[in-house]
Amino acid sequence: MSSHPSTAARVRADRTAAWARLREHHQACSPGFDLREAFAQDPGRFAALSFEAPELFADLSKNLLEPETLALLLALARETGLEARRDAMFAGEPINLTEGRAVLHTALRAPREASARSAEVHEVLDRLLAYAETVRDTASHGIRHIVNIGIGGSDLGPRMAILALEPHAHRDLQFHYVSNVDGHDITAVLRRLEPTSTLFIIASKTFTTQETMANAQVAREWFLAGGGTDIARHFVATTTNVTAAAAFGIDTTFGFWDWVGGRYSMWSAIGLPIAIAIGAAHFRELLAGAHALDRHFATTPLERNLPVLLGLVDVWNRNFLGCASRSVAPYHQGLARLPAYLQQLEMESNGKSVDLDGQALAYATSPVVWGEPGTNGQHAYFQMLHQGSDVIPVEFIAVRQPDHAHADLHHKLLANCLAQSQALMLGKTAAEAAQEKQPTASTTIDPQVLARHRRFPGNRPSTTLLLERLTPRALGALIACYEHRVFSSGAVWGINSFDQWGVELGKALCNALLPRLASGDASGLDGSTAGLMARLRPPPA
Ligand code: F6P
Repeated sequence: MSSHPSTAARVRADRTAAWARLREHHQACSPGFDLREAFAQDPGRFAALSFEAPELFADLSKNLLEPETLALLLALARETGLEARRDAMFAGEPINLTEGRAVLHTALRAPREASARSAEVHEVLDRLLAYAETVRDTASHGIRHIVNIGIGGSDLGPRMAILALEPHAHRDLQFHYVSNVDGHDITAVLRRLEPTSTLFIIASKTFTTQETMANAQVAREWFLAGGGTDIARHFVATTTNVTAAAAFGIDTTFGFWDWVGGRYSMWSAIGLPIAIAIGAAHFRELLAGAHALDRHFATTPLERNLPVLLGLVDVWNRNFLGCASRSVAPYHQGLARLPAYLQQLEMESNGKSVDLDGQALAYATSPVVWGEPGTNGQHAYFQMLHQGSDVIPVEFIAVRQPDHAHADLHHKLLANCLAQSQALMLGKTAAEAAQEKQPTASTTIDPQVLARHRRFPGNRPSTTLLLERLTPRALGALIACYEHRVFSSGAVWGINSFDQWGVELGKALCNALLPRLASGDASGLDGSTAGLMARLRPPPA
């Protein structure tokens, strides 16, 4: 069967001329490539390999590549039809082929009249922001606690963004999150709350997700058992399934549309907790920052298109250098939830192994994405990044101006950030190590042996992203940049970055096991599942 028009012209990455040339280039250059020499030989390397986009500056020069590598990767992007696919996305074509849907999260942040979806988007946005302002008017009501009940894309965006924008958040409102179907999650939240001062937001694109529906039920029972009377005032829903929310008994709903993927939904009604936290004006700034990045992605030549370049470096690291993982190290405590957010964005989008025609791919796709804020990670797993047997590209994110008054702390933070990418690149020879005093080293060990333990290979790749300040606008731009970067690598890999069939099997098997866990019926189960189930069944009453 032929492909959809938006995909018909594309060539699979490993069948392009650029892929073959990249292989040759890799074989010719990579074995002897040394970052230290690359900088010594080319004083213009930083300038040649650093790029700007709205609100963002990116230094790619500490990656294991040459300007020529980027030129070949750009040829790969063109041959695989990245631009046509990008344009198809913005045009609202159903590029999410397996679900027959358009992919239009960009329409959620387009200004009024700037997209074909403007009327419906701005009708909900205006209503949502007006409602958020009423909740923020704490003098007129007793609500002080907002509980977002949602999981995946209905949880990670609000949680990440509210923490990131904490300096802008309403001082009299506290935000809580319940995502896990583990009852410890909701119990720990509810034990500190009172029904009269609590607003529950039931956030679910589908309004069928097991975890969210079960937790919403518990919240409602808790509310009524605690003397709560006005469900209409204390429960709101953000969903594409307004009918199901109404059936649940929720009158106040803010809708969105099936062309918004769950992991791309923080700009939609799912962003309601963010809007309540930071207010309408700041929420519009968040959208404006993302829109600025959308325009950059849509219109900037690929040679200077930051999300495209970041996505191409990801392809280089994954497919040519064989890096199976990428560590994200935000040097800003407000970005502590960014790695978790990016895990869903990147791994749910690009963790695929068939192309758009369902053919098995002969190359790797999404890396494992993980991380912690700096400097905390330095005192935990950075050991492995510096001296471990795997080369793991690290992504540093630094913010020039802090939102606190402790300039000395901020200088230390930034110096640490710079030092880590420097250390990964420079390393240290055994000869250098032998020259140093080693206060904690054993006095009986041979100094030459010790020096080999203290040696750092160096030549390890990193990217550094800089923001001037973590404003709503800058956060919007940063997240949109990540979205389009994931789009770009996914387009080169020729996969559908917008479905998530890989989560379905576990859901179905869970539903089948639920009654068995209650009854103990293990007939037909594999030995391990049957054995574990027998051990996990509750003791008889
Ligand atoms: O199971 C995966 C998933 O569908 C994610 O893609 C989504 O973000 C999450 O579950 C939550 O879905 P919903 O918003 O429909 O409750």
